[in-house]
Parts: sequence; structure tokens; C-alpha cells
Amino acid sequence: GTPRSPSETMVTLTIDGKSVTVPEGTSIMRAAMEAGTEIPKLCATDMLDAYGSCRLCLIEIEGRNGTPASCTTPVAEGIVVATTSERLDRIRKGVMELYVSDHPVESLEEDTEEFDLLDIARKVELDEVRYGFDAVRHRDSGIDDSNPYFSYDPAKCIVCSRCVRACEDIQGTFALTIAGRGFSSVMTAGTDQSFLESDCVSCGACVQACPAGSLIEKTVIEKGKPEWSKITTCAYCGVGCAFKVE
Ligand code: FES
Repeated sequence: GTPRSPSETMVTLTIDGKSVTVPEGTSIMRAAMEAGTEIPKLCATDMLDAYGSCRLCLIEIEGRNGTPASCTTPVAEGIVVATTSERLDRIRKGVMELYVSDHPVESLEEDTEEFDLLDIARKVELDEVRYGFDAVRHRDSGIDDSNPYFSYDPAKCIVCSRCVRACEDIQGTFALTIAGRGFSSVMTAGTDQSFLESDCVSCGACVQACPAGSLIEKTVIEKGKPEWSKITTCAYCGVGCAFKVE
């Protein structure tokens, strides 16, 4: 996306009892971060415009109905926001339970430090998945191993669209799309087409964006996850470079 300059008008609000002042137009999720609160999220990332699809980052605002997504809701002067409550915790657990039940993992204890999905499940204290792990294999159309740098496992896709948006917004390519509807929707590089045959230019933006281990670098598959990684954004462009240190 195009880098935007922050508004000069400042807004003060309260998040979980803490007062925070941020530029007008800031999302409540970002303001919460400023206040030291990390709201659980799956589809939002610093590198992309907010999308509001995963419904994990819900919040409550005093005097307003509903549970809006904090990644797409801008701050407003004087509002009082709660990022946790009995209702929010229950909704988040329910959302995560559905994601995890549709993901080929063996258990919640599985060691998947590479991926956000189970980390978040643990953070929202999901301790039971009633629908059975990997009961649903409707997306199991086989791993696409055609790209020399990364592989794609549709069974692990949670249809958050982060990869599709990274391809469009960061790379400016339109190689990826979401095909199908509802429960059987899945990301694809083109129906009946492998990544290698698609318009993909192997920039890796989609791999960086994937929170579910569905798109994964081949070096990670072979050598394991690096100890840590860092993303920096310099003054010359708004994209950000990812450095990995082994
Ligand atoms: Fe806000 Fe997904 S992070 S809806």
C-alpha cells in the first residue's frame, strides 16, 4: 500500500483502563499496542492494510453494541475499550476452535513454533477442540512443491487472505486468489495450476505473511526455523525487509 502520513490531530481513549493518545485514524488494535496490550490477531499484519476477516481481534466499546474488530475500527475521542471480557474470551475461543479443528495438527500441544496458529490457540487458552483434530480434509488436494523456494500445503490454509493481499499490495502481482466458497474455500495460485505455472515471481511475500504454516520456505522445511527473525522498514520504501538469523 501507499505509505500514509499520520494525522496531526491526536485522540485520547482508554484501553483496558489505560489512557493512550494516538493520531486520529489509528486503529484500536494499534492504539492497544501503544498501550502495551497485544490483541490476538490472525489476519492483520503490520505490512498490510487491515482486512477484518478472522474475527479474533474483537473488542467491546462502552456504550456501543456489538464486538467490532479492533484492526478495522478507528479510535475515537474519549471511548472506553475493553480487549478482554467473558464474552470476548468465549468468542475468541470459539473462533480458534474452528480454525484449529480444520487444521491438520495432532494436538494443541504439538510443537509448532514456526506458526502463529497454535500459539494463538494457547494464548486464548483453548484447551479443548470438540470437533476433532484434522477431521476435515476437504482442502487436502496435495502439497504444491513446484516452486523452488517454498511449498504450499492447501490443507493448512485458513483462508485469512494474508498471502493474497501480500502478493497484491507488496509485490504488485496478482498471482494468488481465494477459490471456492464457505468452508471449502482455499487459496490457489490458479485453478489446476501450480505455483510454478502461475504468475508468481517467487518474491516470498506470501510466505512471510502466512500465519498457518501453509506456505513455508523450503530452507525452513529442511533446516528448521531460525532462532529469530526481524523485520525492518527503512526510509526508502514502505515494504520492510525480513532478515533471518540462524
Ligand atoms: Fe482483526 Fe483478523 S485481526 S479481524
